[in-house]
Amino acid sequence: MSNFHAVRVSDIIRETPDCVSIGFGIPKNLAKEFEYKAGQHVIVRKILGDEDVRRTYSFCSAPSSGHRRIAVRHVEGGAFSTFANTKLKVGDTLEISTPIGEFTLPTDARTSSNYVAFAVGSGITPIMAMIREVLTREPNSHFFLYYGNRDAEHTIFAEQLAHMKNLHMERFSYQFFMTRQVVDIPFFNGRITGDKASILHQNVFSKINIDEYYLCGPLSMIDGVREALVNAGETAENIHSELFFAGADSERANKRSALDGLAKSKVTVISDGRKIEVDYRDEHGSILEATLKSGIDVSFACKGGVCATCRAKVTEGKVDMALNYGLEPEEIEAGFVLTCQSIPLTKTVTISFDE
Ligand SMILES: Cc1cc2nc3c(=O)[nH]c(=O)nc-3n(C[C@H](O)[C@H](O)[C@H](O)COP(=O)(O)OP(=O)(O)OC[C@H]3O[C@@H](n4cnc5c(N)ncnc54)[C@H](O)[C@@H]3O)c2cc1C
Ligand code: FES
Repeated sequence: MSNFHAVRVSDIIRETPDCVSIGFGIPKNLAKEFEYKAGQHVIVRKILGDEDVRRTYSFCSAPSSGHRRIAVRHVEGGAFSTFANTKLKVGDTLEISTPIGEFTLPTDARTSSNYVAFAVGSGITPIMAMIREVLTREPNSHFFLYYGNRDAEHTIFAEQLAHMKNLHMERFSYQFFMTRQVVDIPFFNGRITGDKASILHQNVFSKINIDEYYLCGPLSMIDGVREALVNAGETAENIHSELFFAGADSERANKRSALDGLAKSKVTVISDGRKIEVDYRDEHGSILEATLKSGIDVSFACKGGVCATCRAKVTEGKVDMALNYGLEPEEIEAGFVLTCQSIPLTKTVTISFDE
């Protein structure tokens, strides 16, 4: 189960017309629990209407700054991002989980590393934490950022990036790609693509020894750039990525019918050391929904197969997972599934959230 704490919103900054950044005032007694690594995120929980809304947001602040700050870009029709951009006020309380996530850049003051990041839109948030942390904590390291947006007005942290470049001319550089505003150099017009990443690799990255690559943005950018880098000879283990949203596919699990699995099944859920029997019916759509409907408070956030918060291990029976953008192949091999994307394939299934 996620470990939530009620924390006060200490300040809100309007970063762009469609994005606010939110500072949290973490009480001293929780400071240790809220220590984080650059790139990690929290689950924010808010009851909106009668819905228990939980969404994941990456810290954009540097861990060493002592601040805990997220940035939320408004998504059309989005439950939490609309609330955060229009109604949330300084002094309000939000429930947030302790920091989680494997998309991290661990720093070491003795190293002199070269980092490259590709970010699109709100994908800049974890990257921002990484840039800040590297520039502060690794005096001999360099950071190269490639950042895609529709135009200058909607570019989150544009001024802060310019400020950081002024302070660290030799160690930090960035290039903006724009889809709806013409920029001086034609190469930077339009989206970040695998082809552009190949050209950058040939002309820039191959001439420097790049230690780690970080990608955060839409699936098409992540897949395209990753493939280009691997084809150019980069090691897959040095290319790290985080996806915020999987697109229309992510709703697939909830639309599956009984034809995909069984109309009924007995699911034994192990959570916090307890064993509880859950009656799964096909209208539940996923094992996660059946579990939540039966009143068991297990961890979840995106319900879209992306964040892996709903990960659990199948210890008996079989399930079918509609899609997966959150689990590594080794985890699947070990029997883990995303419960928000899984339905039972056998009359009994046992699934453990405690592994
Ligand atoms: C690990 C992780 C870290 C994240 N960090 C950040 C962050 O730092 N800043 C940030 O702004 N967001 C971040 N997100 C995305 C965030 O968790 C929410 O998905 C997003 O804010 C939309 O939530 P909502 O409640 O407003 O929309 P919902 O009510 O969930 O969705 C409303 C509609 O918008 C669609 N939709 C949902 N998300 C997106 C999206 N990102 N782009 C386009 N359409 C979408 C849905 O399919 C739905 O139709 C992160 C996600 C993950 C998995
Ligand atoms: S809740 Fe995010 S992957 Fe299942």
